[in-house]
Amino acid sequence: MTGTIGKEPYIEIRGVRKGFSFGAEKVAIFSDLSLNIARGDFVAVMGPSGSGKSTLLNMLSGIDRPDSGKVRIGDSHLEQMGESAKAAWRAHNLGIVFQFYNLLPMLNTAQNVELPLLLKPLSRRQRAERVDTVLDLVGLDGRQKQYPASMSGGQQQRVGIARAIVTDPGLLLCDEPTGDLDCKSANDILEMLRLLNRELNKTIVMVTHDPEAAGFARRTLHLNKGEFTEQFQREPEDLAPQPHRDEAMEQGVARQ
Ligand SMILES: Nc1ncnc2c1ncn2[C@@H]1O[C@H](COP(=O)(O)OP(=O)(O)O)[C@@H](O)[C@H]1O
Ligand SMILES: [Mg+2]
Repeated sequence: MTGTIGKEPYIEIRGVRKGFSFGAEKVAIFSDLSLNIARGDFVAVMGPSGSGKSTLLNMLSGIDRPDSGKVRIGDSHLEQMGESAKAAWRAHNLGIVFQFYNLLPMLNTAQNVELPLLLKPLSRRQRAERVDTVLDLVGLDGRQKQYPASMSGGQQQRVGIARAIVTDPGLLLCDEPTGDLDCKSANDILEMLRLLNRELNKTIVMVTHDPEAAGFARRTLHLNKGEFTEQFQREPEDLAPQPHRDEAMEQGVARQ
């Protein structure tokens, strides 16, 4: 990484316009959205239903394309990339955690977690080793053969997290990861996300409607009527040591 690039925020959303068509009618979600996120940050995004939180995550994963404007993550300009380039980029750089886990019911825990590795040039044994490592990390060692239907919601979400991190991506996108969980399981999942952020330096963007869940993040943004307001930002000295520490100073809703 060159010095110049190192000073740029890891994630840069700039001047994004995005709307959806309903027949002849076009509904604008964002008309001029901008945001910087530093590498190693843990950002909670809150906001009313329909404010565009999932659309934001979909643009960060490259699933939705902005009508105009820039969505850059690291060196990758997602708004300029074709579908197959984005799919390859996702396979290397991104893990996604869903509210309802999105596990395949006919696959056991190990097989569910192994799925993203099937796109990589790894032997069966290398894949099994990686699966075992992440299952250990999320506290599900020994559950390799268990099927989702026989697991609690909290356990299924642990499998979802293991699947999201098995390729060792730099970025985790979480859409209401605790929305379907009881209080205790939600806390366990949030502790796990915090550990992945602090110990393994994963950058996390988490959508949540729960202020307590947002309290686990380093930074909370509120999305309303197509604009962000910063609700809470911890002091820079509260950030864990990061390899790209200079980027911590790049935080803040991008100002025009
Ligand atoms: N694929 C789509 N096609 C049409 N409208 C959509 C699509 N995705 C989202 N929308 C609309 O965009 C708005 C924002 O949706 P969303 O990003 O899901 O909001 P949130 O996650 O904050 O509840 C909503 O009005 C929704 O109906
Ligand atoms: Mg949503």
